[in-house]
Amino acid sequence: MITNTELEQKGNQYPNHIVSYEKNIDTLHFRTENGVVLQLTIVRDSILRFRYATNCNFENDFSYAISKYAKTGYNYLEIKETKDIYIITTSKVICRIFKSNLKVKLFDAIDNTLICQDEIGFHWEESYEYGGNIVKMSKVSHDGESYYGLGDKADHLNLKGKRFENWVSDSFAYGKYTDPLYKSIPFYTGLHHGRSYGVFFDNTFRSNFDFSHERKNVTSFWAVGGEMNYYFIYGPKMNDVVSKYTDLTGKPHQLPPMWTLGYHQCKWSYYPEAKVKEITSTFRALQIPCDAIYLDIDYMEGFRCFTWNKEYFPDPKRMVKELADDGFKTIVIIDPGIKIDPEYAIFKEGLDNDYFCRRADGPHMKGKVWPGQCVFPDYTNKDVRSWWADLFKELVEDIGVKGVWNDMNEPAIMEVPNKTFPDDVRHDYDGNPCSHRKAHNIYGMQMARATYQGLKKFAYPKRPFVITRAAYAGTQRYSSTWTGDNVATWEHLWIANVQAQRMALSGFSFVGSDIGGFAEQPNGELFTRWIQLGVFHPFCRTHSSGDHGDQEPWMFGDEVTDIVRAFIELRYQLLPYLYTAFWQYLDEGTPILKSLVLFDQEDIQTHYRTDEFIYGNDILVCPILEPNSKGRRMYIPRGNWYNHWTNEFVKGGREIWVDADLDTMPIFIKEGTIIPKYPIQQYVGEQKFDEITLEVRYKLGKEQSLLFDDAHDGYDYTKGRYSLSKFKLTGKANELIINQHTTGSFTTPYTRFKLKFIGIPFEISKIEIDNVEITFEALQRSKLTQELIVDKTFTEIHIM
Ligand code: GLC
Repeated sequence: MITNTELEQKGNQYPNHIVSYEKNIDTLHFRTENGVVLQLTIVRDSILRFRYATNCNFENDFSYAISKYAKTGYNYLEIKETKDIYIITTSKVICRIFKSNLKVKLFDAIDNTLICQDEIGFHWEESYEYGGNIVKMSKVSHDGESYYGLGDKADHLNLKGKRFENWVSDSFAYGKYTDPLYKSIPFYTGLHHGRSYGVFFDNTFRSNFDFSHERKNVTSFWAVGGEMNYYFIYGPKMNDVVSKYTDLTGKPHQLPPMWTLGYHQCKWSYYPEAKVKEITSTFRALQIPCDAIYLDIDYMEGFRCFTWNKEYFPDPKRMVKELADDGFKTIVIIDPGIKIDPEYAIFKEGLDNDYFCRRADGPHMKGKVWPGQCVFPDYTNKDVRSWWADLFKELVEDIGVKGVWNDMNEPAIMEVPNKTFPDDVRHDYDGNPCSHRKAHNIYGMQMARATYQGLKKFAYPKRPFVITRAAYAGTQRYSSTWTGDNVATWEHLWIANVQAQRMALSGFSFVGSDIGGFAEQPNGELFTRWIQLGVFHPFCRTHSSGDHGDQEPWMFGDEVTDIVRAFIELRYQLLPYLYTAFWQYLDEGTPILKSLVLFDQEDIQTHYRTDEFIYGNDILVCPILEPNSKGRRMYIPRGNWYNHWTNEFVKGGREIWVDADLDTMPIFIKEGTIIPKYPIQQYVGEQKFDEITLEVRYKLGKEQSLLFDDAHDGYDYTKGRYSLSKFKLTGKANELIINQHTTGSFTTPYTRFKLKFIGIPFEISKIEIDNVEITFEALQRSKLTQELIVDKTFTEIHIM
């Protein structure tokens, strides 16, 4: 342990003894003799907010991260005082605050297990240069404790033993361990003794996290300004920690339109119009499903946002419509840099209204991006956001663009050493004026928010779709995201897998990587393995810089084209499953990708697993991450599983070898689950089908599955016009029973389910649907599966 004297020698200050305590509704205030105030708010029974002031002086309480829809309120609160401590008890957590030094210990309220404990706790250093403090917190790291979260870090899933920085950064061709990257999500979960808790440090300044790196038994975090302001979130299940964090910082404001869950094709850049059409028609000719086509910066006139290069795209409205008639949604890029050009209407408007960021002494913030010298809207100003949102009227309402891709919003500046704005740039910060030191990490988030507002307004009654590169905690409310400028290497395939899982663990599920790699070019094998992983990411887009050749699915020869097609088809078949997982993400904050540790934290075998993950609730996926592989070893989590390809029954809780030639990859389905599948379509809504498949995998015991459906776009589902089926499966030695209970007023276009039974261990002699015996011929038999077509409204199927 560091002693207080050592700390002081390093210029640190720390609280001394508590001299007063007050309670004000849900908030307790503890003041120390040297003017430190701890404001402890009971947000929920399992969420406590700790906020510290020095000199008794709090800042205006304002956060871009916390959602206005976050659940608040507790069932139970008791505050006791003894000679040495204050004891605050809710139904989930006990918090002890020591009178002598303001240190905090947190326990599970049910069985008194110690969960999280201050080491030095809050301490700070005064910042002479900028004013305010460098605020610091240190916690004891428990025996065997593991750490997860922190957004897009390109590092091992378990963060133990490492140190990280949060400073949103343009990171072209980053590598494994490059830090910081494009996102700043100062949230982690700790796990020890089978219990999990989370810490969200809501501070937008440059921050650092040290997980037992500098000192083995200490985890600490600090920021170069602002307040020590963190939320402690108790599980004890990691899934609950993540879902509570997601609720606190906000779930996406609406479901994505289902087409956004299809396959997307992108490149820097597809132009002119004839090239775009050649790409889209090749998709249709080769029957490779695809829903979205992207226009990168070259569609603009001299890279001026909201303009079109009329030579390449003489009639964008007509083109967008023709693409739409063929099932393609057009998505365009919009960057924050506005070209300095007195003839350019948007520059003039922004200038007249004083919408652009300024340096400390008054001049505009000028910097070079694609169009040359630019100025930059201050998206932290509400009026600027409204102006920006309105700029999308023509693109979206008139031309018919269906999605917008926000890039370079770290903000990225070319040819300057720090690659972004200097520290002195001023921001409104929604009425809390500040420098770029404080606003940097949320700049991209506020741009995505303003873009989202525009799309929401002009796409109505359809749902908006935005993609952003930069993000802070809470950006998931407005936008999807991708992992930035990766490279076509096997190492980057590993990184993509970790980043998507880690983002999901950090509340942000709608994520994908540039499939195949942005920089350089993959060979056919790498591209295939990347597609195999990418179809299991919520956002599935191939993108490349275009410098090194083409990256469409057909560029690598027929064998690759056929495999890639089959995997994209699998994605389209599983759309109702992914859509249901998305609905659960919105409903409960449940991450769509589940790292094995989140799936089964009690099994310590999962704590250091990085490659395998669960897609939705029931599908175990493990990408092949090395060239020339015929398969790989992987960990099958506890429980029983069926091999997706062979239907072989596999017992979990052990590592096994799984064969996986290039045309396949390890995929396993949890026993007892019911997986919905659509017929293959070339794009969402291409076909109207009156039957969908439900794959039913036998289990001795009980299991529940869900199927959510609605109109796949629009807002009717928010008014009850959805259909939510809960399936209960009960398997006995000689029987299988499936119960269905459906709520919601949406009538699905399909009227029948084709049930495909897998793994039934007994000879079927009788089938009853809703207590009526059906003729035996209805059952199609094959070796391992048996099929039965039923009316979708069944409430009970009984197989004996
Ligand atoms: C940035 C983006 C990349 C885009 C390029 C040109 O590098 O990350 O996706 O293609 O800019 O706009």
